[in-house]
Amino acid sequence: MSISNAGLFAALNQRIPGGVNSPFRAFQAVGGVPPVLARGQGARVWDVEGNQYVDFCCAWGPLMLGHSHPVLIEAGRQALEEGSVFGASTPWELEFAEAISAAYPSMQKLRLVNSGAEAVASALRVARGATGRARILKFEGCYHGHVECLDSVGVEAEQMGGPLALGASPGSAAETVLAIFNDLDSLNQKLEQHRGEIAAVIIEPIPGSMAVTRPRPGFLEGVRSLCDEFGVLLIFDEVLSGCRVARGGAQELFQVKPDLTCLGKALAGGMPVGAYGGRAELMDLVAPLGKVYQAGTFCGNPLTVRCGTANLALLAQPGVYSRLAEATDFLVASLKGLHPQLQVVAYPGMFGLYFAPHEIENHLHMELVDLDFYGRFYHRLLKAGFYLPPSSLDAAGLSTVHTREDLERFVQAVSEGLS
Ligand SMILES: Cc1ncc(COP(=O)(O)O)c(C=O)c1O
Repeated sequence: MSISNAGLFAALNQRIPGGVNSPFRAFQAVGGVPPVLARGQGARVWDVEGNQYVDFCCAWGPLMLGHSHPVLIEAGRQALEEGSVFGASTPWELEFAEAISAAYPSMQKLRLVNSGAEAVASALRVARGATGRARILKFEGCYHGHVECLDSVGVEAEQMGGPLALGASPGSAAETVLAIFNDLDSLNQKLEQHRGEIAAVIIEPIPGSMAVTRPRPGFLEGVRSLCDEFGVLLIFDEVLSGCRVARGGAQELFQVKPDLTCLGKALAGGMPVGAYGGRAELMDLVAPLGKVYQAGTFCGNPLTVRCGTANLALLAQPGVYSRLAEATDFLVASLKGLHPQLQVVAYPGMFGLYFAPHEIENHLHMELVDLDFYGRFYHRLLKAGFYLPPSSLDAAGLSTVHTREDLERFVQAVSEGLS
């Protein structure tokens, strides 16, 4: 009996809620049954029925080098042969931490964790520990992972029937202050209203979950100077933008220096990873030096770390990001104009593709995005062999192994999909 996507997904549903281990994979935003993926190689993935797709989801961010890169296979093989986890210090942590600090000079000291959400939660603790204040300010529409005080309020909670995500602690949510992305007045007003109460402002410098949103010129610089003025720490959540828009993330691209940075996704070539770090005096508050507790059995495990170092070395090769920039420029130039409402917002290594009357600048514009149209368009592209993120509001990715031919075929498929 042959395996089908529908049959396997139905079986998965019997054992795993919604058939998925993370909600957006269930295709609710685009409808239909998700292909159940069984293999990835380079820029391609295959489902259990043997259908092949060019992968522009890139696992929602991590895969800068595509699937199963030979250098990462070798790094991973060595780790599996010599020990994948010790729960003790290893030489490879040093190499990786030094490579991260070199790419992100604002991270003088850092800790390795296992996911973006863990990095964010830990950075918030450092900020609260350093300032003795409880409140965190976030910009609505910026996604920071499954972190109690951040995903339980604002538009994220509203999407789940809000105002408070079911099961979230009301006390934790009450500490969160919301501001509007790309709107310095809203930030100024909230900092004024809660003067002396806010530990940190956390921001995705290039949001990737309200489509891909461009920070207006001067916005990030303005956020930095308001944080300085009010004595509040600035946390850049670069879990998505880190290593994707530049090896040193959005902070390299825009030359704005946060106090703390969170990384994840593309840092370790597809291995589960997170990292948070910043100025040495802040990070020295973390246990065992200080009293901010953070720990984890798998934190800094050699499997992730050895792949991570190999990944950063490959991303440091000359021309990687200029080629990614050329590729995204080509996509923008070729796709724009194919449909009056088609918006394409791109940075090297990531792009947003959605249908709206104009570009989204903040969460208030999200309701302008035509989700139903994207759902129909999405399935046409899937049928044509292109696997985009199954959500109009999430960033698509490009990797170093996508070829010009992949992109040309994609443009052709979009054009046909819209006709
Ligand atoms: C900007 C940002 N921060 C944090 C996270 C959470 O990362 P993870 O899913 O690895 O916990 C994500 C995940 O999508 C993200 O995009």
